[in-house]
Amino acid sequence: MASASPTLEKLKGRDFLTLQDFSAEELEAIMELALRLEAEWRSLKPLQGKTVVMIFQKPSTRTRVSFEVAVNQLGGWTVTLGWNEMQLGRGETIVDTARTLERYADCVVARVFRHSDLEELAEHAGIPVVNALSDLYHPCQALSDMLTLRKRFGSLKGLKLAWVGDGNNVCHSLLLACSKLGVNMAVACPEGFEPSEKVLQVALKEAESSGAKIEIVREPEEAASQADVIYTDVFVSMGFEEERERRLKAFLPKYQVTPKLFQHAKPNCVFMHCLPAHRGEEVVDEVIDGPQSIVWEQAENRLHLQRGLLAVLLQGEP
Ligand code: CP
Ligand code: NVA
Repeated sequence: MASASPTLEKLKGRDFLTLQDFSAEELEAIMELALRLEAEWRSLKPLQGKTVVMIFQKPSTRTRVSFEVAVNQLGGWTVTLGWNEMQLGRGETIVDTARTLERYADCVVARVFRHSDLEELAEHAGIPVVNALSDLYHPCQALSDMLTLRKRFGSLKGLKLAWVGDGNNVCHSLLLACSKLGVNMAVACPEGFEPSEKVLQVALKEAESSGAKIEIVREPEEAASQADVIYTDVFVSMGFEEERERRLKAFLPKYQVTPKLFQHAKPNCVFMHCLPAHRGEEVVDEVIDGPQSIVWEQAENRLHLQRGLLAVLLQGEP
């Protein structure tokens, strides 16, 4: 292994709640390590003797399985629990849970409804806390999506990502990732479903240094114009089920990703979706199963990225 990287050493012990807390250089270093571990994890066990507790307040397929597999491949051990299997579900406080878990484990990975619950957990647990999705952000998804784009296009700077649909948690983390890493991002969404103004302002500020262009538009065709990537996500995120009818009315049919939208994009434009997809709502089968779709590479890269992330937060340079 190469000599110790000061960037990686500085990341050791940090929480990973939002990409806002990390510089472009740090995000690049995590991706680099992910690539190294993708090739070398069989001979490196940076999580040997380490335990990662995972807490899920919402369902998960990719995040849960990829984290469990990553920890196991790196030599560590996981304990995975639903929120309601824990005393949290019966009203034990987050502070008391944090004080307990830090005595057993080396890291907590949590998927929650309220982002503020993660912040409270992180404040009171003296071990790294990783956001496995909250109402506000999905940083592991967005950073692994950047890894997917790096692998596909060779470099990130100057690419254009068109987000079509809800200005949700995944959109927020992509805005932060793109603006820091120099990827242009155009968000096309209906009125009332824009990304949070606070996140947008942070992204616009970051874009000043990276040179990325960040814009919010109404027309999917405008966002897709000359795009390298068309990205969408469900119109009804977990926790928003009661708004289903109102949301489908606002998004359909205009914001559904169909082959027609790709006519506005570059010829080699790819289709991305964090999954799970609601086929026939935000995307049609022809697109998600078509030749431009890289959604399975995306899903696979969750595992690669999270190996790098866990290794650096728990061990620094492996
Ligand atoms: N993309 C993603 O986080 O998927 P899961 O909800 O299956 O974990
Ligand atoms: N926006 C979606 C992402 C799922 C991975 C949700 O929060 O349900």
